[in-house]
Order: sequence, then structure tokens, then C-alpha cells
Amino acid sequence: MKKILIKNIKGLVQCGEDLPMMRKGKEMRELPIIENAYLALEDGVIVAYGPMSEWGGITDWRDLEVIDAEGKFVLPAFCDSHTHTVFAQSREEEFVDRINGLSYEEIALRGGGILNSARRLQEMYEDELVAKAKERIERLISYGTGALEIKSGYGLTVEAELKMLRVIKRLKEECAIEIKATFLGAHAFPTEYKENHRGYIDLIINEMIPAIEKEKLADYIDVFCERNYFSVEQMSEILEAGIKIGLKPKVHVNQFSAMGGIRKAVELGALSVDHLEELADDDIEALKNSATIPTILPSCSHFLSIPFGDARRMMENDLPVCLASDFNPGSTPSGNLGFVWSLACVKMKMTPEEALNALTINAAYAMDLSETHGTISLGKKTPIIITKVIPNLAYIPYAFGDNHFERVIV
Ligand code: NIG
Ligand code: FE
Repeated sequence: MKKILIKNIKGLVQCGEDLPMMRKGKEMRELPIIENAYLALEDGVIVAYGPMSEWGGITDWRDLEVIDAEGKFVLPAFCDSHTHTVFAQSREEEFVDRINGLSYEEIALRGGGILNSARRLQEMYEDELVAKAKERIERLISYGTGALEIKSGYGLTVEAELKMLRVIKRLKEECAIEIKATFLGAHAFPTEYKENHRGYIDLIINEMIPAIEKEKLADYIDVFCERNYFSVEQMSEILEAGIKIGLKPKVHVNQFSAMGGIRKAVELGALSVDHLEELADDDIEALKNSATIPTILPSCSHFLSIPFGDARRMMENDLPVCLASDFNPGSTPSGNLGFVWSLACVKMKMTPEEALNALTINAAYAMDLSETHGTISLGKKTPIIITKVIPNLAYIPYAFGDNHFERVIV
């Protein structure tokens, strides 16, 4: 058994017993911290913690690593509940096109964007996709990510969507952190189906979804509900087919337009609705008293220069907020959640505590990991972040652009 004892911790953050599954509204300001604390892990499981004054000392030194965390904070690692970490290649030529005046939507209409990534992914072998994704995941872990959701959606043919999901399945087996797989066949209409949307939806429902069921390739189902992509009715039909085989919806809605997708997704029992740069009053009403968590992706807003999600309005309406990276080659080429924390504070006026709740406890909820991740509680196996020596917790989002984490234990 591998045992780790971390002592003299300046602040043990987000820790306690009988914590809620998520925090919403005003509760998001709450963040339990034990000052001058210790934390003990056995094979990654939290077995003891508390103030140093209550620490019993070491009786058994066998297989024990002792870490002195003087001046450092310890927090549960972030959960990233929305990413597209499996992709073939970066797309910096579109980045330059946007600098020169084209919009994300214009680039997509010219066959760039998601279709560009799909062409490249279709040509790449499974092994290479796995290797590339593993490298990215190693880097994400060093930035503090301790659980990761990954979507398909750059395949857009039966063969390539299944290939992507098999890649994610291998990552689940071979990576050190918990990974959840989301089927996003409805990410864009492939060029061959430009004039035949019905045909592509039939392909998703009659061929992709049954194959996914057979090989147990996904946990969730996603649809990009947006003008020029999938309508609310099309989303609803596809989600229902996924629900039939046990896939819970987690959807892309309200990135560029509020079309009523949120209400529909809530009705269908979505675990989360993601993006929400645009938000209508009815969207807020639909989310009240639901189990669906709104998820905001500030790095996407930053990179595409589109509005930031209105987290304050959500919290004023007593809603929970989750933050995620949206890591992908088109709209968010960074999966650094420390930067997301900073953007949430600077651009969305979330306090450091609210944003950290959105990245830990609420993010664990958004990927069905509340039992194991998101807080430091006895019996949990959540990965742990040990920070560098920093003056206080707010310093992390304040001093943006640096990695303030010394070690991430997964
Ligand atoms: O979440 N909006 C849809 N999908 C991704 C972007 C995909 C891409 O541009 O490759 C997103 O932003
Ligand atoms: Fe996305």
C-alpha cells in the first residue's frame, strides 16, 4: 500500500463531511478551509485530515511518503466536464483568418471549422490519436485537471465516430485520471449531407447509436444545437434515441443564439447545458428547480471574442454554475483550468471561491463524479493539487498565466 501524508498545509480547501452534491446561488460563496492542516492518503483514498493540532503523529513509516506543505494550499483537483481533447491537428490558420476579419461562423460556412477537423481525424490512425491525446492529458493533469470528459464529434461518419469513441475508451483504460465519454455525432452536418439533413440524422440514430450501445462506447450524448447546425427539434429526436440506450444528455446550447434548446434539454433530463453565452429569461426559468447544471466555458468566449456567460445572473436566480474548458482546436485551444478560474473572476465577476466551487464540487456533479471527486472528504479518491508557496487562494486566479501548482497527485 502506498501512503502519503501531507503536513503543515497552509489551507486544506474544499474539505469536510456531508457536503452537498453541488452549491448554487449564494451558497457558491461558501468554501470550507482548514488552516494549518494535515491530510493522509492510502492508495489515493483520503483516510484522515484535520488541523495539525489534532494530528496523531506517525506510528508506521512503512511505504510512507511525507510531504511538508508549509506555505502551500491543498485542494481537490479540478474536474473538466466539457472537452474535445481527442483531435488530429491544431487549426491556427483559422485563428489567423479570424484576426483578418472572418467570423467563426463564416469560417464554418466555407467548410472550415468542425468539418476541417473531421477531415483530418478521418485520415488518422487510432494509435496516433491515442498518443496525441495522452500527451495532452499529461499536460492537463499538470495544470490541475483530475477528471476529464471527452467528446466525439470530429468523426462525422459511422466509422470515424466509432474510431474516436474507441480512442476515448482506450484513454479511459490507460490514463491515470477518470474519463467520461460523450457521443457528439451531431456536431455538424457533413458536406455529403448538406442538402440531406434527414439522412445524417437517420445515420446517427440507426447506425451510430446502435453500434455505440453494442460496444458500450459512451456515457453521455451531446448535440450542437445552434443555427446552421442542429435545430431544437433535431436535437430532441437525437437525444431521445440516445436516452433509449442509457446515454444521459449533456448539450451544446446557446453559444451564438438562444433558440429554446435549454428548456428542451431540461425536459429531457440533461445533466448539463453548456456554453450559454446567450441567455434568455425563459432559459433561466427552465433551469430553476431542475437537476440540470448550467456550464460556462469562458476560454471559448475569450478566444472567439464572444460574450461571456452571465454567471452572476444565474447565481442571482439561485442556480448552480459549473465552469469547464471546452478544450478543442477550433474555439478553445487551451485546456488550462487555472486560466478559466482567472477569466471567471476577471471577466464574469465570480469571486475566487465561487469559481473554485464551479471547478470542483459543481464540476464533479456535471460528470456524475460527486461520490469520488470534487471535495476532500473521507473515503473519496479525488486527485489532489498541492500549490506552490502562495500568499492566499485568490493569488491563483489573480496572478494569471502562471501555473501555481507544484504537484498534482492522481
Ligand atoms: O464547443 N461549438 C461547438 N463545438 C466546439 C467547437 C468545435 C470546433 O470549432 O472545432 C465548441 O466550441
Ligand atoms: Fe464544446
